[in-house]
Amino acid sequence: ATIHDQKATRGNGGELHQIAEGDTPVLTTAQGGPVADDQNSLRAGERGPTLIEDFHFREKIFHFDHERIPERVVHARGYGVHGFFETYESLAAYTRADLFQRPGERTPAFVRFSTVAGSKGSFDLARDVRGFAVKIYTKEGNWDLVGNNIPVFFIQDAIKFPDVIHSVKPEPDREFPQAQSAHDNFWDFISLTPESMHMIMWVMSDRAIPRSFRFMEGFGVHTFRFVNAKDESTFVKFHWKPKLGLQSVVWNEAVKINGADPDFHRRDMWQAIQSGNFPEWELHVQLFDQDFADKFDFDILDPTKIIPEEVLPTKPVGRLVLDRMPENFFAETEQVAFMTQNVPPGIDFSDDPLLQGRNFSYLDTQLKRLGSPNFTHLPINAPKCPFHNFQQDGHMAMRNPVGRANYQPNSWGEGPRESPVKGFRHFASEEQGPKLRIRAESFADHYSQARQFFISQTPPEQRHIADALTFELSKVETPVIRERMVAHLLNIDETLGKKVGHALGMETMPKPADAAVATRQDLDPSPALSIIQR
Ligand code: HEM
Repeated sequence: ATIHDQKATRGNGGELHQIAEGDTPVLTTAQGGPVADDQNSLRAGERGPTLIEDFHFREKIFHFDHERIPERVVHARGYGVHGFFETYESLAAYTRADLFQRPGERTPAFVRFSTVAGSKGSFDLARDVRGFAVKIYTKEGNWDLVGNNIPVFFIQDAIKFPDVIHSVKPEPDREFPQAQSAHDNFWDFISLTPESMHMIMWVMSDRAIPRSFRFMEGFGVHTFRFVNAKDESTFVKFHWKPKLGLQSVVWNEAVKINGADPDFHRRDMWQAIQSGNFPEWELHVQLFDQDFADKFDFDILDPTKIIPEEVLPTKPVGRLVLDRMPENFFAETEQVAFMTQNVPPGIDFSDDPLLQGRNFSYLDTQLKRLGSPNFTHLPINAPKCPFHNFQQDGHMAMRNPVGRANYQPNSWGEGPRESPVKGFRHFASEEQGPKLRIRAESFADHYSQARQFFISQTPPEQRHIADALTFELSKVETPVIRERMVAHLLNIDETLGKKVGHALGMETMPKPADAAVATRQDLDPSPALSIIQR
């Protein structure tokens, strides 16, 4: 940007008044009224009190006072980029979703990368999960694939989401630590929640300190459904694979970078896009049917499990290219509202209890954060295909029904109509059973995949996991929490458990955690699970 030479005058106090002339627009109030002096409020006398009739001062300060909206309750710190999705081949055999029908077709997209635990002003290289939320503006409405850079999650049921998030955020009495999982509350919750063990292995690995957003994978995590024109369903898992490959930093680099440049990841993305170095990901899917699903000894509805790619290879179906930064961070990156329930016809949900809960949560949270049911009127959230309905009014309504009809059916021949052919038809899965609060036994194995992940790592990567666990647990002040965690680790991998236990100064190792404790509800709480007296 150049700084223009402009006509300017000095006021009595030496303040600089830059004067509009030529093509320079005249400064106005929000009501459009031209402003003569933006530097001095209206006073009674040169040194007197400010007058209440100063509508310009009042409007300027009022607007400033209301600039902040609540930050996201999770994933507060994020960075958005525009781009497009390009389809490789027709997937009509599996899905009727319009975006997957024509090879080579491009659909506009917006991606927001984020950390989970830290506040909006926290640092980029915290050890944390990264959000990888993709909004694709299809011709049949927006598809939001609200994923992470880790293919599994901490919990199996959405009802535990407030607990896991409360535990990782700053503790309520002391409001620290910021953007750090290394504290008693987090490890207390984790050590009491064996279903989190697989996720914990990923979070303690190098995956949680990525070199850049451009070197990260993304995952839809849950099992979804593709549904074709014949209303036949195929289970699908979504994976984004970076063209640049995977890269992470090591912990001591992460610590230094956080101090020297807390904006490391956003700066990296900004510079890449500005220099025309557009990052790219391939969308891969794993497709399978119910018979295939039934062969596993884990449940494909369990979001703490992956389907190993050795067993079911992924298939590339398209690519995502990011090539344009938002013009305004707040308008786009901050106001974008992702919601798992945004799916076009041809993409549907499974009964994964975490996904089912998310489908409820995101609409709620967007209303809280953006403040009006009309948040879909914001340009970043509005579909890019034609859209018509009878919704009206509410705070900040930018669209209202045109004409007389604001209901249907109506006799005026006005307004949009339903389409059983084009419209979304929910997959008619058969559901039955008693109404219960219970976890299926098929969700009970919490250690096998944690172990598989650990042994799939190279020796230096395994060392990093052990070091991360040692560092994190060394910040935990309550001995029984450390012991409980080591008991879990011994169950995942004995060498890992012992290494961390010794590094924490344990002379004798605790008994490995009982793998069955995880879901059996009839057990008395073991001593290790008893409440800690502070
Ligand atoms: C936000 C991913 C589980 C509630 C987000 C965002 C991502 C994400 C990427 C940030 C979206 C953005 O950039 O604006 C995930 C993944 C999950 C998961 C991958 C599990 C597989 C849950 C669950 C709940 C939940 C179980 C609640 C029941 C929220 C809320 C927000 C959020 C309230 C804030 C949304 C906003 O204010 O814009 N999640 N999440 N998430 N998530 Fe999740």
